[in-house]
Amino acid sequence: MPRGAIREYLFGGDDVASDIREKYRFDGELLSMFADNRGPVVHKWHHYIPIYDRYFSRFRGKPLRFLEIGVAKGGSLQLWRNYFGDAATIYGIDIKPRCARFDGQSGQVRIGSQDDPDFLAGVVEEMGGVDVVLDDGSHQMPHIEASLRALFPLLSDDGIYMIEDLHTSYWQKWGGGFDARGNFFNTVRRMIDGMHRWYHDRPVVLPEISDKLSGIHIHDSIVVLEKGPVFRPVTSRIGG
Ligand SMILES: C[S@@+](CC[C@H](N)C(=O)[O-])C[C@H]1O[C@@H](n2cnc3c(N)ncnc32)[C@H](O)[C@@H]1O
Repeated sequence: MPRGAIREYLFGGDDVASDIREKYRFDGELLSMFADNRGPVVHKWHHYIPIYDRYFSRFRGKPLRFLEIGVAKGGSLQLWRNYFGDAATIYGIDIKPRCARFDGQSGQVRIGSQDDPDFLAGVVEEMGGVDVVLDDGSHQMPHIEASLRALFPLLSDDGIYMIEDLHTSYWQKWGGGFDARGNFFNTVRRMIDGMHRWYHDRPVVLPEISDKLSGIHIHDSIVVLEKGPVFRPVTSRIGG
């Protein structure tokens, strides 16, 4: 049966916090900020909460520059402001002009498309650089790749690029499909091959990413790319 409807996965219970605590053994401020939210709607999968905290917690209270693709009702920008604190520069982009009404509330909002590299470069320039990108935009395969190609080179060293809702990689409506060429996990495979360039003789397909890609983490529907220096590995035999 073809899948592709988020409502199939809606949580049927009434205690979101307990569900996350019990299944993922996670407790922390981000959990209560999400589960007790009485502000604008934030729509997140339960298992994302501990994953966000795992990769983002080191930036809390710091002058982080955070860019979220996809503003919708402004709820997630408010969540990130509460989580990261006042020292953070927080920007959201969205293609829908009506999202401009959230500009200046929890962060800055700019209107444009995530597949427009000039628009993205302009936003990053205005931000003074970017340390963390969270792609929660259209979830369309070509858009995910266009944003990644444009933004990863602009990310600071030691920065994090997180893409969520990658279940759409399996869904045709988003340009995906189990065997579809556009399935984003084919791009992930190319990045894995690029990371292991030392051990094969095929060309590096995405050098603008692979040349500074120090880590790739895959979770259910989330890919996290860590930017950092890359060195040809060496090995030593010591002792004996
Ligand atoms: C899943 S919602 C974002 C939800 C928000 N981050 C949250 O957690 O509450 C996706 C958003 O991406 C926006 N979007 C769709 N296509 C886009 C594009 N090409 N460029 C930028 N934003 C886009 C939609 O307008 C929508 O508001």
